[in-house]
Amino acid sequence: MTIDRFQQAAEKEKYVHSVFTAIAHRYDLLNTALSFNQDKYWRRFAVRQAGLPAGGQALDVCCGTAMLTLELARSVEKVKVTGLDFCEEMLAVGRGNIAKSNCCEAIELVQGNALALPFADNTFDCATIGFALRNVPDIKQTIAEMQRVVKPGGRVVSLELAKPSAPVFKQLYYLYFEQILPLLGKLGVGFDGPYRWLPESLRRFPHQSVICDYFTEVGLKQACYHELTGGIAAVHVGVK
Ligand SMILES: C[S@@+](CC[C@H](N)C(=O)[O-])C[C@H]1O[C@@H](n2cnc3c(N)ncnc32)[C@H](O)[C@@H]1O
Repeated sequence: MTIDRFQQAAEKEKYVHSVFTAIAHRYDLLNTALSFNQDKYWRRFAVRQAGLPAGGQALDVCCGTAMLTLELARSVEKVKVTGLDFCEEMLAVGRGNIAKSNCCEAIELVQGNALALPFADNTFDCATIGFALRNVPDIKQTIAEMQRVVKPGGRVVSLELAKPSAPVFKQLYYLYFEQILPLLGKLGVGFDGPYRWLPESLRRFPHQSVICDYFTEVGLKQACYHELTGGIAAVHVGVK
């Protein structure tokens, strides 16, 4: 990585950290409202793709408020799920969500960076990441780290916003996403900024087919993706 790219990466990381610190207290409510309650269905679909076996161990990278972490913990019996995020405010909301669930024993949350996961090679049966590849400064490095810590035969799964292609639907969606959603987000958190990041991050994010190539390039087999809700979201899957 050149010095310029390194500086850009460090700046993006700092900016993203400040965005999630600012919106942590409203994140769950706004996530559900702004996705018209689709986020729950998308998370459940992603968890099914992860193929976590009963008694297995899962990692949820960039776990935020632990919504995907909780879905993993609920999916099968006697699992151990580790959620990792670099934002203490998001983890604090996550701890509250876990305390209200009946999965306290199954989940551990740790603070850490997705680009340098603090786990040994071949530790987990699967690794997931939800709505976060857009936010990391190096997408491929993050997928490579997930691949590294998953056991051979284990799956790496990403749930992320994507780029719909059907003509009229696409135009309506971008009108909502680029013009209306930042205003609703501003109303929700009380100030401008964080919800402008959402459309901007999607604009900068590669098409779902390119993300699929990244899965293959880091060494994952059978890389594929499923488009959800007309391509608003996509779930990528690869096997180590
Ligand atoms: C949009 S939230 C998604 C939270 C959760 N996965 C979900 O399904 O709702 C993105 C999360 O990624 C975290 N994040 C962004 N960059 C990170 C990094 N480099 N290392 C660890 N966490 C990061 C943020 O703190 C935030 O909690």
